[in-house]
This record gives sequence, C-alpha cells and structure tokens, in this order.
Amino acid sequence: MNKSKLVIYGSYGYTGSLISEIAASSGQSVVLSGRNEKKLAEQASRLKLEYRKAELNHPEEMDSLLKNASVVIHCAGPFVHTWESMAEACLRNHCHYIDITGELGVLESLKSMDALFVKAGIMVMPGAGFDVVPSDCLASQLKDKMPDAESLELAIFTSRILSSRGTLTTIAEHLGSGGVVRRNGQLKRVRSAWKSKKVDFGRGPVSVVSVPWGDLSTAYTSTGIENITVYMAMKPSLIRMLKFSNLINPLLRNRLVRSLIKKRIHTLPAGPSAEHREDGQGLIWGRVINSGGETVESGLSTPEGYTLTSKIAWLIATKITAGNLKPGYQTPATAYGNDLIFEVEGCRKNE
Ligand SMILES: NC(=O)c1ccc[n+]([C@@H]2O[C@H](COP(=O)([O-])OP(=O)(O)OC[C@H]3O[C@@H](n4cnc5c(N)ncnc54)[C@H](OP(=O)(O)O)[C@@H]3O)[C@@H](O)[C@H]2O)c1
Repeated sequence: MNKSKLVIYGSYGYTGSLISEIAASSGQSVVLSGRNEKKLAEQASRLKLEYRKAELNHPEEMDSLLKNASVVIHCAGPFVHTWESMAEACLRNHCHYIDITGELGVLESLKSMDALFVKAGIMVMPGAGFDVVPSDCLASQLKDKMPDAESLELAIFTSRILSSRGTLTTIAEHLGSGGVVRRNGQLKRVRSAWKSKKVDFGRGPVSVVSVPWGDLSTAYTSTGIENITVYMAMKPSLIRMLKFSNLINPLLRNRLVRSLIKKRIHTLPAGPSAEHREDGQGLIWGRVINSGGETVESGLSTPEGYTLTSKIAWLIATKITAGNLKPGYQTPATAYGNDLIFEVEGCRKNE
C-alpha cells in the first residue's frame, strides 16, 4: 500500500486554511479533509488540491481517508471533542498524527496512549503549533543549561491579543475549570489566576498570570522538571477579571451560559487579518531554578502565533513524510531537539 499522502483535517478552518495554503505550493501529495463537503470542494478547487469528506464519528469514512495517508495534521478543535476519534483512526490505519492543540487534558490523554502508538509504529505529536513548540524548545534549552533544575517557569506573550474564533471557542469550552500547575511531578488544581507577576520579555516588565496550558504536560515530558508554572501576558484589568471569575466558576460551567458565549464568538471575525499576522510577534520567556536557588533565564522571539503555527505544523508534517520520526507519543523537543524552533524563519533567541 502506498501511504504517501499528507492529510489536513479541518482544512477549511482558520488555521487549517493557512496550512492548506502552504501545502498548495509545496508539491506534496495533500488531501484536504473535514466534515463539510461544500467548503472542501470550494477550497480544493481554489488550491488545486485533492479533497475527501470524512466525519470523525464515522469510522469507515475515516478509514478511507487515512488508509493511504502517511500523516494527518489534525486542525479540528476544540480538540477535547475530536482528538480521540482521530487518534483511534490513526491507530487503525497506521497513520502518523500531529495536531495543533494546546489543551492540557488532550496532551495528557494522548501521552497515556504511548504504548499503543509504539505498538502501531506511529508517531503522535500533539501541540505542533505556537503553543507548545517554542516553549517546549525553550524549556529543553534551559534544562540543558541547568541539568539540576528543580523548577521551571514559562511565560508567553503575543504582541496583539487577536484570537481566532476557534481559539476563543476552545477557551470557552474550558471556562470555569480553574487553573493548574505542576508540583512534585503531579498536576495540581489551583484557582484561576492563582499567581500573577511581572516578567521582562526584553522590553521592560509586563504583567503575566498563571494559566492551565499544555506546556504543563509537554515541558514535563521534555525536561523531567517536576515543578512547572506557565504564565501568559495579560493586562492587569483582565487579570482582575480572571481572579473575580473564581466566584462564578459554576455559572461559567453551565451549558446554557457556555453556548451563549459561543454564539457571541461566532459573530466575530474568523481570525486575525493577514496584516495583523504580518505585524504580530510572539515572545517566550523561561526561567529554571535549582535547589541552591541559582537561576538561568532565557527567551525566544517568534512570528505571530497563527503564522508560526501554520509554518511549524507544516514543517513537522514534512519531516514525517520524509521518514524523520520517532514512533510513540512525542513532544516537539523529544522528537526533533531543542533547536527545532529555529528552523522557522523569524524565530530567534533573545539573550
Ligand atoms: N496551539 C496553538 O498555538 C494553536 C494555534 C491555532 C489554533 N489552535 C487551536 O486549533 C483549533 C482550531 O482553530 P481555528 O482557529 O482553525 O478554528 P476554526 O476556524 O473554528 O476551525 C475549526 C475547524 O475544525 C472543524 N471542526 C470542529 N469540530 C469538528 C468536529 N467535531 N468534526 C469535524 N470538524 C470539526 C471545523 O469544521 P466546521 O466548520 O465544519 O465546524 C473547522 O474546519 C482550536 O482548538 C484552536 O484553539 C491552537
């Protein structure tokens, strides 16, 4: 069987479209896929690529999609609803899997299936986007600089907080769930906005707040550091709102409230314009500390988050089609090393 095709699932979503545009000029054998045939046909004719409609909850359709595929780039989020069907279809069809999630629960669930992936001979790498590739590489670089590090802090800054509808819907999906940190190797539930502080990404101090992001899983896998806190840059007024949200968490978990929030999100633009992406930038800061209280600090700059996601996800997928892969669950750094991020134009160290 010729398993040479590269499938982009969720290809007509905001981020899937960016990846599909890169794919169109690549010369690779690409199949666009998703559940809406009309949108797929329009996109495929515009980009001059093959397409195949497949519903995630329809195993026969998924098997026909993946039986000739070497790798799928899974872009259909929120991934909490989609990862499992896709991972099972990949196992059945011996197809490598990458996705662009930053959802902690999804990363942990896929990690727990490592033995199944090894047995099937497939590589599974969730988090192949802005969150978590640069932060995963930075965490591993810091661990190399301080092998006896006992704790790690990561902070993520985007110069323009413009999110796609898909990102906002994914945030809405997890509203009211509180925060998470890693302590002594275990994930520990904490209040939303549990810690806030100032971090200097290289342009003076910026307010950041702790968030339950996917790095709490991947940075632990890549470095073995048992105490991890992840922060994102946020205006102090929003941090105050996030702290207040602890009082209304049960309300935010209410289905009706979530569906009203999602309806409102659907009235917003699909995502940042090309100009916003061109102007935007991502900054990542990290610090490790050892038992003696010594610290090492470092930072990275990247292109805007959606641009970086499309480029890095595509880069990883093409490494896989070229046979450069490791079977089993992988983080970006465990599969490709600390310097993977520097393979994308515009990514550099801030020191
Ligand atoms: N880690 C990162 O840095 C990063 C970066 C970018 C995006 N993301 C994540 O990637 C996801 C997509 O973002 P986006 O901006 O591209 O969102 P989007 O524009 O809303 O696109 C989502 C795509 O997923 C499809 N989809 C959703 N649920 C599906 C299901 N159950 N079955 C089949 N298809 C389904 C949608 O198809 P329909 O139109 O048919 O519903 C659409 O094609 C979000 O979870 C976002 O948080 C993460």
